[in-house]
Amino acid sequence: MPKSVVRINTVPSYEVHIGSGLIGDCGTIIRERLGDVKLAVITDSNVAELYLEKAAASLEKAGYRDVKSFVFEAGELSKNINTLSNILEFLAENQLTRKDCVIALGGGVTGDMTGFAAACYLRGISYVQMPTTLLAAVDSSVGGKTAIDLAAGKNLAGAFIQPKLVICDTNCLDTLPDEVFSDGAAEAIKTGVLASEALLAAFEESEPGQNIQDIITRCVEYKGGVVERDEKEQGERKLLNLGHTVGHAIEKLSGYTITHGHAVAAGLAIISRAAAKRGLCDIALAKRIEAVLMKYSLPISCIYDAKALAEAALRDKKRAGDQITIIYPEKVGECRLKNIHVDELYGLIRDGLEG
Ligand code: GLY
Repeated sequence: MPKSVVRINTVPSYEVHIGSGLIGDCGTIIRERLGDVKLAVITDSNVAELYLEKAAASLEKAGYRDVKSFVFEAGELSKNINTLSNILEFLAENQLTRKDCVIALGGGVTGDMTGFAAACYLRGISYVQMPTTLLAAVDSSVGGKTAIDLAAGKNLAGAFIQPKLVICDTNCLDTLPDEVFSDGAAEAIKTGVLASEALLAAFEESEPGQNIQDIITRCVEYKGGVVERDEKEQGERKLLNLGHTVGHAIEKLSGYTITHGHAVAAGLAIISRAAAKRGLCDIALAKRIEAVLMKYSLPISCIYDAKALAEAALRDKKRAGDQITIIYPEKVGECRLKNIHVDELYGLIRDGLEG
């Protein structure tokens, strides 16, 4: 199957290349778009073992000499100010200049943190996203949200900065542990609920792992459209946080032992049941969402009670004064934003937990 190329029409615009074996072609693709720049690769200890050599060989073959790499310990706990500081020092030691570029080779942690380093270093240099997980492919590598975590919560320091290019090698997804694959499936299913009957049906009708290039392409096309219309999340882009208000609370209460996608899946099921209970959507839709999440081995509830979840959610960055925006599905392809008073959140989550 030939690769797909999706153009994201932000200013400036960039391409997302999706296909099998693209790590082996990354040097050529980068040279065609970025020309003769100095490159540095940022990756984690797991991904380095699997793909760094292959990526480096492709870069060298395309004429990029002396590409340095920075490898940090894999895991969400590394997405902090210390690793960011080490990356910035590494870029400075290797004398990258404003015309140079960093490559984020890895999952969401690598992409978010490398993007933020690119935003800070010399007040902003270019970066390329090379997602190696489904979650990064369908969501975090596109749209320019970059961040690190603070002790007070996830993604609390960051910047909007669009990548120059995204290269997604779908072969990487073959080596993902089932749990990590499901994590990405949660964001992809969320996108299906937001986007259209056709995309949600693609998950219902195919088995996990099938038609993956097509699914990633359709998710990226949908997200790209939203980002083009609302790059800095002033309105429509908030819809992409469907399932995330409760999801972030679950992640936080678990001390991040429950991963992002699993938490978002539970958050999506909880908000869908709450919406159905309040007559905001049909109960059949909530049941349909539960069924597709379970098909991808994802949870549809959690062990935490409504009080703990509401308290954790209200410490999230999505709160604005005494208001918080919730996102709920009205129909497939028609999700809604609703501002509610913070005092209402507890009752809503309780309804969603009870089902
Ligand atoms: N992950 C949600 C967004 O990029 O807006």
